Parts: sequence; C-alpha cells; structure tokens
Amino acid sequence: MFTLVPHAFGWMTEQRPIAAVLGGELELRLLNYRDWTPLRAGQVDDEPYGGGAGMVLRVDTVASALDAVYGGQPGHRVVALTPSGRPLTQEVVEELAAEDALTLLSARFEGFDERIVEHLATDAISIGPYVLSGGELPAMVILDAVARRLPGALGSEESGLVESFSRELEGGVEYPQYTRPAEFRGWNVPDVLLSGDHRRIEEWRMEQSRLRSVG
Ligand SMILES: C[S@@+](CC[C@H](N)C(=O)[O-])C[C@H]1O[C@@H](n2cnc3c(N)ncnc32)[C@H](O)[C@@H]1O
Repeated sequence: MFTLVPHAFGWMTEQRPIAAVLGGELELRLLNYRDWTPLRAGQVDDEPYGGGAGMVLRVDTVASALDAVYGGQPGHRVVALTPSGRPLTQEVVEELAAEDALTLLSARFEGFDERIVEHLATDAISIGPYVLSGGELPAMVILDAVARRLPGALGSEESGLVESFSRELEGGVEYPQYTRPAEFRGWNVPDVLLSGDHRRIEEWRMEQSRLRSVG
C-alpha cells in the first residue's frame, strides 16, 4: 500500500478481519512515496500542466518508489485508486482476493499524473461515484473486503459464505436477520424463523433475498 499517510491505516491493523490474518494469510506493507522521492524536501507532487488549482502526484516519484521496493515494475497487479476507475463490486473483490500479491496506489489533492494510471498501474478502481479527499479510505475498503475473503479472517460470529452478493444467494443481497427478543413494542420476528423447520426457514430466506434483490 503506497500512501502519503501510512499512519491512517493504524486502527485497521488492530481490528478483524485484518488483525486475524496479518502475519499469516496477509502481509501488509504501508509505504510512503516520500521515502523514495528523488526530489528535495520530500516533494512528491507538483502543479498541473495547463493550469488550475491543486497539486498532482508526480509520475517520477511513484516510479522511484516502485523501483526501490520491487526493483522495477512489480510482477503483480498494481491498482491505482481513482474516481475514474472501474467500479468496485464483490466480483472485483473476489478477483483481487485470488491474487497472491497486490499493490495499491493512493493519491491526494488533484490525484495522479495520468501516466501513473496508464503506465505504472495495471488497474484503476473506484469505490463509487463520489470524490473523497484521498485514496486511503478507498484502499481500506478494498483491504477490508479482500481480507475477509482470506481463510481465518472471520470469527465464529460471522459467516463469510452466505452473505450479500455471494453465489449462495445468487449474487443478491442477504435476507433480513433477527435476534432476541422475539417481540419488541409489538414488532414481531416472522413466525417462520421461530418454527424450527429448517427447510421452511431456508426457503423463506431465499425468497426474501430474491425479493430484496429485484431491481
Ligand atoms: C480529491 S481526489 C482527486 C479527484 C480528481 N481530481 C477528480 O476530480 O477525479 C484525491 C484522490 O483520492 C482518491 N479518491 C477519491 N475518491 C475516490 C473514489 N471514489 N474511488 C477511489 N479513489 C478515490 C484518489 O486516489 C484520488 O486521486
């Protein structure tokens, strides 16, 4: 993970699912472009050609960070986080989780010099049609979503098999979940869930998932 603010990721490494797989299924390296910039005083960005507000992350500083860490272009996928990228979906998450290694590139301010996206990255991913102030939150979204697909990431209180967008639910969203009390302020848990009839419960859940996934 290349970023200008590696410390932003601190809390994530202490929580599930990342904490559960760190040092085992997952090795996470938080790297700062500034540590390898060829420019003076830790400079990594510059004014945009053509004018306009803001600062753009320079291609030479990102190339130099990749060269220093990987000895050249990495032999695995390099994902630039950008609002103009391919939308992140569970399908993309599964695809990324199947990779042995990934590099995520984050920018701030006005974003990347386009040559980073074109020549240094292999993929560009957006977490949604809105603009955040930096790629750190998008990177954390990807890290969390990918980490929970790794063996041992989830505790017994959570199922990673039957959940929204899974094959088990035909790619649809999850059915409604309820817990105790069975009645609260006159709001009742559906009778079928209290019936103990597992086949009916499965059927009801699948039907609810399909109903919620329409459109
Ligand atoms: C303020 S944004 C740059 C926005 C850019 N000037 C534009 O209009 O598309 C700074 C950085 O935050 C990250 N970022 C912001 N929104 C994002 C999103 N929806 N998905 C992925 N990354 C995002 C990217 O790394 C981006 O380069």
